[in-house]
Amino acid sequence: MAAPKIVVTRRPPGAAEEMLRAAADVWTWPENRAMPRDELLARAGGADGLYCMLTDRIDAGLLDAAPRLGAVSQMAVGVDNIDVAACTARGIPVGHTPDVLTETTADTAFGLLIAAARRFREGMEDVVEGRWGEWDPMYMVGRDLHGSVLGIVGLGRIGRAVARRAAGFGMRVLYTKRFRDPAAEEELGVEYRSFEGLLAESDHVAVLTSLHAGTRHLVDRAALAAMKPSATLVNASRGPVVDTDALAEALSEGVIAAAGLDVTDPEPLPPDHPLASLPNCFIVPHIGSATVRTRILMAERAAVNLRAALEGNRMPYCINPEVYPA
Ligand code: GLV
Ligand code: GLV
Repeated sequence: MAAPKIVVTRRPPGAAEEMLRAAADVWTWPENRAMPRDELLARAGGADGLYCMLTDRIDAGLLDAAPRLGAVSQMAVGVDNIDVAACTARGIPVGHTPDVLTETTADTAFGLLIAAARRFREGMEDVVEGRWGEWDPMYMVGRDLHGSVLGIVGLGRIGRAVARRAAGFGMRVLYTKRFRDPAAEEELGVEYRSFEGLLAESDHVAVLTSLHAGTRHLVDRAALAAMKPSATLVNASRGPVVDTDALAEALSEGVIAAAGLDVTDPEPLPPDHPLASLPNCFIVPHIGSATVRTRILMAERAAVNLRAALEGNRMPYCINPEVYPA
């Protein structure tokens, strides 16, 4: 039997490609940029397996162009770029990379919270642009983390890791998610609130939910208005969970005090975008999981998923396990 054919849409770090080569005939997009759509459609035609990135759109059109495709494995935990329902309908398992990036991403979210609440961007701009004057008792004062209330929107793996960090900082933690989570309440001492209740009570709100139809623009103009004027908003999930225009307006009009963002909508954020120039908006370019070690672990986990599928086994980290017989 001929070895299965795998298309890798961008060179992954670590041993991922070697792991795949041991079991398949691997073709990797050679350029250091996202694979163009037409190229992806053409290459997918002969593929049994696809190893993809969050910059690839895996939709019904692509699946139609890939009649042999038996597995999709993404090097990311979020899979909002993939039409999972369309994959499921065709019996195609979709792999992702949870767990290995949880702590790294929680570190990023916490960093954003500190940076935004304590005005690191404004402070740094003053240093660089020569505005650092004499010590002044009320210069650049921000908001405390310790003794404050953190509201976590989406208490998944990353949300729980952020809650553990918050406990170390002496914060009280509220959470909201679709279903109440008594196990997490017991383990972490977090308290459940409705979304509206959480917005009203929290000094800082961290958005850590996945993006789907139910969370697109979850944080809209009304949600921002429901937050405290002194509040900080952190988004380390996906840009479209927050209405970008509403956020830019809220930050410039003092509806909320500050934001720390790892993700934006659109991405990349154009440098002339209103959010980019707001001094109270601390933005980093989608680097939540970007440490050397974590990116290697993600790349290898995605390879393990794809190999398992092509060898006829269950993907260990599968977003749609319903494709497998019970
Ligand atoms: C990165 O954003 C991921 O989903 O892994
Ligand atoms: C992602 O890993 C999450 O569940 O938060």
